[in-house]
Amino acid sequence: MIELIDFVKNYGRFRAVDCLNLQIPAGELFGFIGPNGAGKTTTIRFLATLIKASSGDGRVAGFSVSRQPLEVRHHIGYMPDQFGSYNGMRVGEFLDFFGQVYLLPRTVRRRRIEMLLETLDLKEKAKARVTALSRGMKQKLYLARTLIHDPPVLILDEPAAGLDPQARIELKHLLKSLRRQGKTILVSSHILSELADFCSWVGIIYRGRLLTCGPIEDVLRSIRVTRHIMVRFRDQGDGLGLARRIVGQRPDVNHLYEDEGGLSFDLQGDDAEAAELLRELIQSGVEVTSFTECDPTLEDVFLRLTQTSPPRTRGMLIASDLKKTTYVNEEP
Ligand SMILES: Nc1ncnc2c1ncn2[C@@H]1O[C@H](COP(=O)(O)OP(=O)(O)OP(=O)(O)O)[C@@H](O)[C@H]1O
Ligand SMILES: [Mg+2]
Repeated sequence: MIELIDFVKNYGRFRAVDCLNLQIPAGELFGFIGPNGAGKTTTIRFLATLIKASSGDGRVAGFSVSRQPLEVRHHIGYMPDQFGSYNGMRVGEFLDFFGQVYLLPRTVRRRRIEMLLETLDLKEKAKARVTALSRGMKQKLYLARTLIHDPPVLILDEPAAGLDPQARIELKHLLKSLRRQGKTILVSSHILSELADFCSWVGIIYRGRLLTCGPIEDVLRSIRVTRHIMVRFRDQGDGLGLARRIVGQRPDVNHLYEDEGGLSFDLQGDDAEAAELLRELIQSGVEVTSFTECDPTLEDVFLRLTQTSPPRTRGMLIASDLKKTTYVNEEP
């Protein structure tokens, strides 16, 4: 439904997006994730037919983005990351204006506008000026604008930016319900946790390159070769010290750090290795109260793929007495 084929975008000599290939099937809610400057808006603006590719192409709803931009525009609802100013325009007029842009007949426009204002809880603001809306309300109004012509594909650039927690939850519910209605949705964010619990597919972009892409379970599973383990002990003095030595000597352990009186580390291996390590700890007399494997989060995937600091480490690096990286928390 949404596809990118060797998409490259250069700004002068700077390559903002480097040969992106992506295929999002119809009906998916796709989270396009990456830090600031990764290339999300550039890619989205290309899909929305607002900028040209330096090379490569894209397809949306079966139409070529470069060669059939008008058809693409009719099939997408695009929400930009920044809002224009529509001085003097009222909420109802604003939506009516965009309905006219899409050549909708007056009766259809009226019905759609009423339905959208109702769904997005903006009914009582129908006569308010657009400039007099709060940020969250403007966001909703822009979402209504993307839906006015009932497009099958929605492309939303950071729609949750600036929303309070309650409004974010509402947005999630709304996007899920739009997906249930059969729409294909691309939504970008630089905040992983914002998308993790409701997207069905994710793609992670970093410095213009796609690091991984696919159904969210597959992306999370793909980093499961490394398990993140947390161990707690009854005796946080000698017991912790002994455990740290035992765990730290293992060649299959990385990123060992102390975490709230316990140990956290990455273990390369399967269930047998994890069981063997637990046995070793218990046999050496350490009183283990819990030994837990944490589910990888999107943060873990992102950090692993970009090879930065280990996950869940809020702390700073200290001298390593175990010939391994040891971290301590700065915060209590
Ligand atoms: N018009 C432009 N001219 C020159 N460079 C640009 C232009 N637009 C974007 N860039 C550069 O391209 C890179 C990607 O920018 P882009 O806006 O696509 O990132 P992003 O992933 O959307 O980031 P953010 O999370 O901050 O919105 C950045 O290095 C940016 O400085
Ligand atoms: Mg952006």
